[in-house]
Amino acid sequence: MAMVKLDPPARLDMSLGKAMFTQRAIRRLKPDPVSDEDIHMLMDAASKAPSSRNEQRVRFLVVRDREKIRKFAELYREAWWAKRPAGWKPENFEPGDLHLSAMRLADDMKDVPTVVLAISTVPGQATSVLPAAQNLMLAARALGIGSVLTTLHPTVTDRVRALFKLPPEAEVHCCIPLGYPKGRFGTTARRPTSETTYYEEWGTPPPWE
Ligand SMILES: Cc1cc2nc3c(=O)[nH]c(=O)nc-3n(C[C@H](O)[C@H](O)[C@H](O)COP(=O)(O)O)c2cc1C
Repeated sequence: MAMVKLDPPARLDMSLGKAMFTQRAIRRLKPDPVSDEDIHMLMDAASKAPSSRNEQRVRFLVVRDREKIRKFAELYREAWWAKRPAGWKPENFEPGDLHLSAMRLADDMKDVPTVVLAISTVPGQATSVLPAAQNLMLAARALGIGSVLTTLHPTVTDRVRALFKLPPEAEVHCCIPLGYPKGRFGTTARRPTSETTYYEEWGTPPPWE
């Protein structure tokens, strides 16, 4: 297997801290295209991620054809609603709620400039695909490109497979719309790490408040 070594691209020189700490789910995207040069850089960044036994079974499918995105978006929307529990209603959520943003993305997916599917060449390799997807999204952040990790639902798997001519053994783990944000990157709110970190044994807090 031919392998390549790459130097870090100068355009990815945003500090790691800034990229990580200002990364957030960007669901409202401008229609402006993302260049091939930038897509190439994201793929190079993704290729640097760890994978089990370095087998590198992740493949990315970049979709920009408008008709394909439109067809994919129909399936994405169907999948999104298939994941809602019975009785789920948008009226039950406050304006600005994440569920409403996600619902809007399900409607807007047809208009995004690019969708990237993160796929494994064999089933059940999520843990080798997700680090690469995260690298891709952090590199996108550094380039000012918005992204959000989304997933499908088994009800649409066969049709997604047919749409993109995926081989039977391939598994789609996530779909990442990419584009320039209508809103802004910025800090996110998270649980304090003093509550999510244990030392030595479950339940033993770390040495910080
Ligand atoms: C496994 C996984 C599945 C997700 N699925 C969806 C999805 O279907 N639709 C969506 O809009 N966002 C989805 N997200 C994005 C999350 O909602 C988002 O990362 C989370 O709310 C944090 O957002 P923030 O970084 O802006 O605070 C998913 C994220 C992960 C990790």
